[in-house]
Amino acid sequence: MTETRKPLLATLLGEATWPPPVWLMRQAGRFLPEFRALREKADFLTRCMTPDMAVDITLQPIRRFGMDGAILFSDILILPWAMGQSLDFVPGRGPVLGPVRSQADLERLDPGRVTKAIEPVMETLQRLRRIVDGPEAIGPARPGQVTLIGFAGAPFTVACYMVEGHGSREFEETRRLAYTDPAFFDRLIDLLTTATADMLCAQIEAGAEAVMLFDSWSGLLPPSQFRRHVIEPARRITEIIRSRHPGTPVIGFPRLGGLMAIEYGHQTGVNAMALDTGADMKAVAAQVPDTLVLQGNLDPIRVLAGGEGMRAEARAIRDAMKGRPHVFNLGHGVIPATPPEHVGDLIKTIRDV
Ligand code: CP3
Repeated sequence: MTETRKPLLATLLGEATWPPPVWLMRQAGRFLPEFRALREKADFLTRCMTPDMAVDITLQPIRRFGMDGAILFSDILILPWAMGQSLDFVPGRGPVLGPVRSQADLERLDPGRVTKAIEPVMETLQRLRRIVDGPEAIGPARPGQVTLIGFAGAPFTVACYMVEGHGSREFEETRRLAYTDPAFFDRLIDLLTTATADMLCAQIEAGAEAVMLFDSWSGLLPPSQFRRHVIEPARRITEIIRSRHPGTPVIGFPRLGGLMAIEYGHQTGVNAMALDTGADMKAVAAQVPDTLVLQGNLDPIRVLAGGEGMRAEARAIRDAMKGRPHVFNLGHGVIPATPPEHVGDLIKTIRDV
């Protein structure tokens, strides 16, 4: 009998499958020539908000490489934009937002606008789910084996962009504000916690089979702030999702959390935890509950470099996790300069057991 459950979904629900399922953060992106071609036709927000394009971009990496997971093509900044914050993706500079730094700025945001604003995203998910569950194979992926992943930014990481107004290495303004006006910062995190949970539930209702919470900047926080702005919101979001959609796994990604990631794994209730490149997977596995699925964590630069070094390191991570539910992935997103052949070689290496 062949598998009836999708390998990635089964693993996220706690089954140890061999070889492990594989997908890559930022698998739909600039390293693919077919993605760059669409980029010339429409700006980033238009691509996110046009179901024809978003469906196509989501499936581009699956058609080429047949990953086990298809992650919705969208962005973590769609949520603040849907609540009314101005957002522009400026080529060469990244996202630019009208900063939210005062109670008055906060009051101008309206979570009531989100459902309507993200209707195209919901349509994208509905169409994607019909395609992944349809009778036709998507490239080398077998029919009915691809899991559809929805996602959101975690409250702290989204707050970083909302307060700072743009990307940054340090997000000094955001972290300063969390200390000088903790009541304001708590209200912002609270608003984002509820809005994020609601949006992820809407994604699940539209067809997402698993959801991931990206906390890319959580590693900037000291322990007390990490507990308050990273662990507690992730715990609440997971609790809300589980109460409404008990069978849908949640993946948390407390990037650069170091030792605090261990606490995150114990306290938040997420089904799976994605680890960044710096984590020793096996050491983490020994310190978290066996029921916590781990995802990760090959260095994206290894894939940029390719060759036998990449294959050996990928096998070492895969083999170290044998017997435990593990989802193979990178420690962060695919680098735009990565040759697509290296990604193909990586997927093949993971599956070749
Ligand atoms: O992983 C995927 O393939 C799914 C889609 C996805 C995107 N962004 C598409 C995107 C996901 C999951 C994200 C998450 C995201 N967005 C995060 C968290 C993960 C991480 O990488 O840490 C963050 C911090 C953002 C915010 C963001 N979006 C930035 C800082 C930028 C500009 C920098 C850059 O890489 O260009 C974006 C734009 C963006 N989001 C692009 C893509 C493919 C590039 C847009 C383009 O030029 O076409």
